[in-house]
Amino acid sequence: MTAILIDGKGASQKLREEIATAVARLKLEHAVTPGLAVVLVGEDPASQIYVKNKARQTLEAGMASFEHRLAETITESELLSLIAKLNADPNVHGILVQLPLPAHIDEKAVIESIAPGKDVDGFHPENVGRVVAGEGGVVPCTPLGSLILIKQAVGDIAGKNAVVIGRSNIVGKPMAQLLLAHHCTVTIAHSRTPEIASVARTADILVAAVGRPEMVKGDWIKPGACVIDVGINRVAKESGEGYKVVGDVAFSEASEVAGCITPVPGGVGPMTIACLLANTYLATCRSVGAPPMEIF
Ligand code: GUN
Repeated sequence: MTAILIDGKGASQKLREEIATAVARLKLEHAVTPGLAVVLVGEDPASQIYVKNKARQTLEAGMASFEHRLAETITESELLSLIAKLNADPNVHGILVQLPLPAHIDEKAVIESIAPGKDVDGFHPENVGRVVAGEGGVVPCTPLGSLILIKQAVGDIAGKNAVVIGRSNIVGKPMAQLLLAHHCTVTIAHSRTPEIASVARTADILVAAVGRPEMVKGDWIKPGACVIDVGINRVAKESGEGYKVVGDVAFSEASEVAGCITPVPGGVGPMTIACLLANTYLATCRSVGAPPMEIF
């Protein structure tokens, strides 16, 4: 291994400490406690663990956490009326509806029902549009966390070639927009991109967000590149017993070529929740007209 390991766990902890300081100041100076409401529909075990971690870290940052666990069988209109209540609740500054939702619920209708000012995921079309236009807007948590790690590892990224593999609304597309806003030359590669390995090899900054275990091989990477692995894939262990979590990058090969690389787990993952807390803090500041502390 020659690459420098990017410590997402450490960076997440540092960011959460900064947010806790900023929240304490907001409480003192504006008498407001940021509140985050998380809505979980159904019993998906991975989502349950994720939601529990979110609630714990929300409280640790000095914020209020409101959890709504709903049965898999809830109707779309029942879910929409809960969101309408949360939109109107002055103690709730951020709303996150855990995805994916059961098939009988229209995800788009749910996302669009969240008040844009409380949309701490940045998935509402108004926020998507504002981010693309460079007019503020809420930046989705995973791309924001990735950008923070890239800037900490690389420094000034203006003029760098960035390749984002994956074009999802949650990661690929907003990641590309953020890199563009930071003056990178950006390429989005995806399943229909011919010669994808040679496209990836042009990258000074390579972000893999496809959800395919270890797809990005060592020879896809330009020597010295910064490699950000957004993938979290559960695969069977070689022994046949149990599972392990791997990213979208073949880590051991890639770390022989890259200049710096995020591990999975312990890279981008921990940054996602920290950025959710940052977005909740920012939403609270906007709602009370407080200037936000510079936290990144
Ligand atoms: N499910 C997996 N990741 C996310 C996320 O960032 N936001 C929401 N709302 N659901 C998710």
